[in-house]
Amino acid sequence: MHKKQAFIISFEGIEGTGKSTQSRLLSSFLAKQGFKTAFFREPGSSVFGEQIRNILLHGKSKLSALSETLLFIAAREQLRIEKIQPNIAKKDIVIIDRYIDATVAYQGYGSGVDIELINQLNKVVIGKCIPNLTILFDIDPKIGLVRSGRGDRFEKRKISFHQRVRMGYLKIAKENPDRIKIIKVDTDIKTIQNQLRTILNNEFNFKKRKHKKSADKK
Ligand SMILES: Nc1ncnc2c1ncn2[C@@H]1O[C@H](COP(=O)(O)OP(=O)(O)OP(=O)(O)O)[C@@H](O)[C@H]1O
Ligand SMILES: [Mg+2]
Repeated sequence: MHKKQAFIISFEGIEGTGKSTQSRLLSSFLAKQGFKTAFFREPGSSVFGEQIRNILLHGKSKLSALSETLLFIAAREQLRIEKIQPNIAKKDIVIIDRYIDATVAYQGYGSGVDIELINQLNKVVIGKCIPNLTILFDIDPKIGLVRSGRGDRFEKRKISFHQRVRMGYLKIAKENPDRIKIIKVDTDIKTIQNQLRTILNNEFNFKKRKHKKSADKK
């Protein structure tokens, strides 16, 4: 029999684009529809990952771009081993707030780490846990940074850094048109959530899956 594998959705985009807002809204919508969902954030969602998150977002000492990359990769490896992998056979949908593309966009396009190296590391750490769908939220960083306003280590970087990250994300999306769908987020939260549900329904088909689920139970 074919082994069940959860549908993996990742959310990407620069600071303040609404990744956390929209992924949480989607997660509760899907739960209300009766789907078993798991929600994780990167870096984090494992004990080691949350410790790394603290260093990466709030650490005071300087880190080279490569050290930063390796820390993100280490957190991702733990997330995959401890959380994604065990949930993939149990849940219908796994939602991840930032994942593989963030390292390519931030440390690659933003900070100049070799993109091929990042791609290879990503490939090794995620194994088969490749997103079925990635939503890229896009907005001018000047607007995103005002919305976010948390002032962590990444947000404090120059606007030119955030522009490079944004352009990097758009390039990654262009190279992966089947997996990555772009949503412009200069509208209100509800409109974006509806656009997101339409895209997801095209890929995942809520109704069909629900029927299949109830048929499986019989
Ligand atoms: N479409 C929107 N219009 C206006 N404000 C929004 C919109 N979406 C989210 N916000 C607000 O912007 C702020 C940042 O949103 P959120 O934390 O979801 O972004 P994020 O992409 O997760 O940011 P970060 O990368 O910093 O984690 C929140 O205060 C949220 O309420
Ligand atoms: Mg967030």
